[in-house]
Amino acid sequence: MRLDRLLANLGYGSRREVAEFFAEGRVTRADGREIRSETERATPAEMRFDGQPLDPLAPLTLVLHKPVGVVCSHDEDEGALVYGLIPPRFGRRNPALSTVGRLDKETSGLLLLTDDGGLLHRLISPKKAVWKTYEASLARPLRGDEAEVFSTGALLLENDKKPCLPARLEILGPQQARLSIVEGRYHQVRRMFAAVGNHVESLQRVSIGALTLGELASGQWRLAAAADLAAVENRVVAAA
Ligand code: URA
Repeated sequence: MRLDRLLANLGYGSRREVAEFFAEGRVTRADGREIRSETERATPAEMRFDGQPLDPLAPLTLVLHKPVGVVCSHDEDEGALVYGLIPPRFGRRNPALSTVGRLDKETSGLLLLTDDGGLLHRLISPKKAVWKTYEASLARPLRGDEAEVFSTGALLLENDKKPCLPARLEILGPQQARLSIVEGRYHQVRRMFAAVGNHVESLQRVSIGALTLGELASGQWRLAAAADLAAVENRVVAAA
């Protein structure tokens, strides 16, 4: 791939802006020698932009701790966007990063962004049965039968035609529970608790597959490592 297209696809600038970066000497090799033309031969690994290694090529996946109040959308009219939490360059990449499913505005927690269509499909398809786990604080004490109701695969949510797939509920306290689901229906967790006469006051996604939020602070992100990707799909990684 031509070097100008490579940099443009990584979001460094438009093809015209990138041409200027070459002319200005901002694109170099690791040893500092300038790459003056987009037609020179250089591998991404040996290239530098403003002295820094290039961002990772596609496929790229980010692990993000979404705070309450930001929206999983590209539409700036909807308020603060999750894309505002990552470097602006990442928002201009081609292929584009998109969120793996959505967390609603009032829900915090583990969110993945990826440009890998295959991964996206595998993580959101209920058939692949990747468990997403949420911790909920509830407005009212649990009745006691919720785990049974959620596990049946017969729970029909308002306005839905098909019942929810079986879900797992763990009681953490009188008004606190951990719920794991394989689907990602609109406001699913809130609607499931509404269906059993309760109301979710706060909600956090704590894991996807075996990947947990860990030490990632609210609003922070990191590049997903191979071990993270293996964890979300519950794969075993071969030792190096
Ligand atoms: N269920 C919800 O109600 N909200 C989310 O953001 C995710 C699952």
